Amino acid sequence: MRIALVYTKRTWEIERIEEEMRRGGVEIERYYPSEFSLKIEEGEMKVLPEIQADAIYFRGPGKGSWEETTIRMNIFKVINQSIPVVNSPESIEKCTDKMEATIRLFLSGIPVPETFIVQKEDITEEFLKKYKKVIRKPLFGSKGEGIEMIKRGGTGYLQKYIEHGGRDIRTFVVGDEVLGAVCRVRKGSLVTNVARGGRTEVCELDEELRDLSILSARALGAEICGVDIVESKEGRYVIEVNSSPSWKGFQSATKINVASKIVEYFLRGCPEHK
Ligand SMILES: Nc1ncnc2c1ncn2[C@@H]1O[C@H](COP(=O)(O)OP(=O)(O)O)[C@@H](O)[C@H]1O
Ligand SMILES: [Mg+2]
Repeated sequence: MRIALVYTKRTWEIERIEEEMRRGGVEIERYYPSEFSLKIEEGEMKVLPEIQADAIYFRGPGKGSWEETTIRMNIFKVINQSIPVVNSPESIEKCTDKMEATIRLFLSGIPVPETFIVQKEDITEEFLKKYKKVIRKPLFGSKGEGIEMIKRGGTGYLQKYIEHGGRDIRTFVVGDEVLGAVCRVRKGSLVTNVARGGRTEVCELDEELRDLSILSARALGAEICGVDIVESKEGRYVIEVNSSPSWKGFQSATKINVASKIVEYFLRGCPEHK
């Protein structure tokens, strides 16, 4: 078995994956998303360099302009027709665009917070009047960056602030298995992301969390993902599915070897890949 790793940064997560691949006797190929080209000529379409692996672990297109990102995603869509690309470029697009993710989660019957995606300020005023505490999130943000409480005006992706008391839940999905759940705690803060000072604690994985996680991952077609869930007196809401999740905090709290679960999923032939 040969697996190609496509990433922009050699993170702790990539190092753990390589370690598990070596342990499992898996051969490794490494690529940057920015090094590929596509040729259409003489009735043929070809991606260069040619990947020899049996499957690809794709951590997303990396930073780039809209044009660069489009090129990379299209190239991986072509590759995915002959070699399984996990997560698929289509699912990464759906997860990364918070508007598309929320629409798809909602249409799959998954509880999401009240959300207005607004281009006219009078709609924003209506939303604020009704829900009082409202946050704005960048459509393509991550790690809690750029999320702010708004008091008036403005447009964009607006969401009712769920009173979570500085604690939310992150579950981790690999294929059809939910590995576990952790709580990220940051008292007195709008966001609880580990990147923003959130502390990670183990959290009981009950049936509801398990179901919400699997349904959310399926709604967006993500095979390996982190699901963010906020909880209040009114219930639980899915706020995000992360298709290139970090798992250092998750692993140190749960003691689950995430990389070995991921490599195992590849060795089983990526059964959830569509
Ligand atoms: N509707 C919401 N109500 C309360 N807190 C929220 C809401 N949306 C996001 N947050 C907080 O902000 C954090 C980051 O939001 P998220 O949607 O997961 O975006 P990011 O991609 O930046 O992680 C969440 O983990 C949560 O703590
Ligand atoms: Mg998040």
